[in-house]
Amino acid sequence: MADNNELIIRDLHVNVEDKEILHGINLQVKPGEVHVIMGPNGSGKSTLSNALMGHPRYTITSGEIEFQGQIINDLSPDRRARRGIFLAFQNPLAVPGVTVTNFLRTALTNRRKGDVAPQVRPQNLDIVGDRPVYETKKASVGGDGANIDRKQRQTLISPKEFRSILKEKLNMLKMDEKFTKRYLNDGFSGGEKKRLEILQMAILEPKIAFLDEPDSGLDIDAIRIVGEGVNTLRGKDMAIVVITHQQRILSFLDVDYVHVMMQGNIVKEGGPELSREIEEKGYGWIRDELGIQSSQDEAREEVGV
Ligand SMILES: Nc1ncnc2c1ncn2[C@@H]1O[C@H](COP(=O)(O)OP(=O)(O)OP(=O)(O)O)[C@@H](O)[C@H]1O
Ligand SMILES: [Mg+2]
Repeated sequence: MADNNELIIRDLHVNVEDKEILHGINLQVKPGEVHVIMGPNGSGKSTLSNALMGHPRYTITSGEIEFQGQIINDLSPDRRARRGIFLAFQNPLAVPGVTVTNFLRTALTNRRKGDVAPQVRPQNLDIVGDRPVYETKKASVGGDGANIDRKQRQTLISPKEFRSILKEKLNMLKMDEKFTKRYLNDGFSGGEKKRLEILQMAILEPKIAFLDEPDSGLDIDAIRIVGEGVNTLRGKDMAIVVITHQQRILSFLDVDYVHVMMQGNIVKEGGPELSREIEEKGYGWIRDELGIQSSQDEAREEVGV
């Protein structure tokens, strides 16, 4: 059963604060596939990834998420992560007090132990903010040594092994080792935050990774590094779902399917040619074709505000 890493989302309805945002999403992702989700601002792309990860503010009112042959609607974010679901956040939050190294080492320990072993948890860890980074990542966060008790520390991956994994992945993403001694995302530039998300993915080796705009705010060279990094990581077994507004990062990936979201629904699906068409012509033609009225947000995006 655990060998079946297929993700199947069936008729998923998701509320945020009593308002329905997703109105019945169907999506099936098989191991090794690369999917792209595009759509105007506010169409529900991040909501879908947050709901998939189990963020508590996103309530599934009906429908199901199946992964590894099990319905995971009620599974906590940390258990989803340990089973191999990963989300690179659109806006990762800073976690002062937790260094990148300690975070990654603890997260990798938990990922390797899988969903059956007790979780290595930090103690008295104060995390700023209540955004997804807190909800999803607190589960696998390890604080500085002082935050983890001795018994827990003994169960961590050895520093030697971890250092060699870290070094290899840093090289791949052309990241400086200096990063890893800093607090998580604290004072990181937009581009550095995005690379750190991909570094996490590289280290955790999930079965399926949702990347929520891994390319936004990146310069051309950084998009290439991230795109090539993602492409390298994409093993036979690992599926990737990229949420993006730009075509550029897709040129590094062999895309299988493109899904277009509007107003909480997937309204059109196709192959890589669909993303190129959207880049050229925007979303107006899809709306015209399907008779969808543009929402305020979407209209704003179209006139480039
Ligand atoms: N936590 C939340 N609280 C209130 N409203 C929310 C929340 N999360 C999402 N929404 C609303 O749900 C809708 C979809 O938002 P979402 O962030 O999923 O869009 P998106 O497609 O990711 O847009 P973008 O391309 O701008 O990132 C928006 O109207 C947004 O305001
Ligand atoms: Mg978004």
